[in-house]
Amino acid sequence: NNAIKYTLPLFGKKVMVTAGPTYEAIDPVRFIGNHSSGKMGFAMADELAKLGADVTLITGPTAQKENQTLLRIDVVSAQQMLEACTSVFFEADITIMCAAVADYRPKEIANQKIKKQADSLVLELEKTVDILATLGRNKKENQILVGFALETHDEENYAKGKLEKKNLDLVVLNSLNDNGAGFKSDTNKITIFNKALERTVFEMKSKTEVAKDICMAILKISK
Ligand code: CTP
Ligand code: CA
Repeated sequence: NNAIKYTLPLFGKKVMVTAGPTYEAIDPVRFIGNHSSGKMGFAMADELAKLGADVTLITGPTAQKENQTLLRIDVVSAQQMLEACTSVFFEADITIMCAAVADYRPKEIANQKIKKQADSLVLELEKTVDILATLGRNKKENQILVGFALETHDEENYAKGKLEKKNLDLVVLNSLNDNGAGFKSDTNKITIFNKALERTVFEMKSKTEVAKDICMAILKISK
């Protein structure tokens, strides 16, 4: 039993990971999306599975493929991701929210393709539900919740603010100021803050290596 714990420290743990962008429909042929590739979330899911965790990966549309055995749930919109997350979260020991969820979606989805007419077009958008904040509000004592913060300025303050507001155990700051970090790239540069607001700064690394660093930070605080 100790041998299993040593080689597979997350053996028997249920872990939920989200990845990729969400697509918010405008009409039957168009959507609002973002440049998230899904690489970071898939790398997290694979590393957690390698550590023995029972991983459920909830992903928006991406070209990524999982390399480890895990349960994959494909979704498209923020609303679908919310529904998948709430159905899995209650039994997850550890949750990592890597997905780049849309903050706004079109208030109305046109039933038919919108034809081009006037020289300008205004779309009214409404806020989506903040999935991570919702999970944070429902989090039980023994659950670990990890979020990301994607920032371009005043990054540390925003990241710490998200940790506190969303009731997280760790926040991973992804700074888009660093070249080679972020959405489309194969590498990433992160800083992790824990609940005590202690900061750990990491070098620029491949997303697989970054995922390992995040796993180690999770192991440190896991019960
Ligand atoms: N997130 C979420 N649901 C949303 C928006 C964001 O679960 N509707 C999660 C992301 O997956 C990420 C964290 O919240 O783990 C932070 O996302 P980010 O976009 O950096 O922050 P926001 O709180 O959306 O604030 P802003 O975009 O204004 O910086
Ligand atoms: Ca956002």
